[in-house]
Amino acid sequence: MTIQWFPGHMTRARRQIQDKLKLIDLAIELLDARIPLSSRNPMIDEILQSKPRLVLLNKSDLADPEATRRWVEFFADQGLPALPIDAVGGNPSREILLRSKQLLSAKIEAQIRKGMNPRAIRALIVGIPNVGKSTLINKMAGRKVAATGDKPGVTKGQQWIKVGTEMELLDTPGILWPKFEDQTVGFRLAATGAIKEEILQPEEIALFAMRYLVARYPAAVGERFGVNEVPADPSDTDAVVALMEAIGRKRGALVSGGRVDLEKASLAILRELRAGKLGRITLEMPDEVQA
Ligand code: G4P
Repeated sequence: MTIQWFPGHMTRARRQIQDKLKLIDLAIELLDARIPLSSRNPMIDEILQSKPRLVLLNKSDLADPEATRRWVEFFADQGLPALPIDAVGGNPSREILLRSKQLLSAKIEAQIRKGMNPRAIRALIVGIPNVGKSTLINKMAGRKVAATGDKPGVTKGQQWIKVGTEMELLDTPGILWPKFEDQTVGFRLAATGAIKEEILQPEEIALFAMRYLVARYPAAVGERFGVNEVPADPSDTDAVVALMEAIGRKRGALVSGGRVDLEKASLAILRELRAGKLGRITLEMPDEVQA
């Protein structure tokens, strides 16, 4: 789902999340492990205020494991525990519960000291569209949770979803908007499929992705697309476009006269990248972002 965000939407989305903060013990911030910062809402600290927070790096099945390890360190350095998960292939419920208990241990221990039975931890999942919120809620619930009113501005009754006996989730996740002002962020979001092609040209998105792949994952490019020579310099646009054309030819993306249809070639490259056909790829690293 792609949402057209306008200032009114953002204000409403923010208010909806802030209203829910009163109901919860913990916010679960869902990010895309392939682009952890680009899939992050720019105002997240302000929105979640001082609420205890667990960061989940979702789609880690598609991300480079070494890069994910470095991202976990990056968040830990900021005092944020981060856990890589795969909401489709795995079931991260136990690990999420364990980490949540650790985060809330002072509160839980205080309840025990007062002779109370600690009640279930109440949590809200927040994240930008397509990051996997509904998939994770369904996985944790152990069933398909009914339509979640997944639109900013649509309000409906809140329901708590039980995750075992020790945790409860709000059925409607908090939908956040991504960063718009930075073009590179837009390209990363588009390359992973978080925003749709109509917003940016497929050729431009694929060129952006291919430059990155050539720089960071040349062996994966050579292997997947059966090309012997990967350009040595990712900033050499002619060489990278020539590579995309060579891939297009191999994929049969041709127009009459045998010329390569670069748009089709780009769509094929993006499709294969998003489906993990090039292996596990991360499109931003902590050192680049810090730089
Ligand atoms: P949302 O509620 O945050 O908007 O996201 P949603 O759960 O709908 O997930 C968006 C897409 O991401 C879905 O693919 C879903 O299967 C996929 N996805 C979610 N978590 C993971 C994960 O951990 N690993 C992988 N590989 N995929 C994940 P889809 O239904 O095919 O949608 P689309 O890809 O056609 O947009």
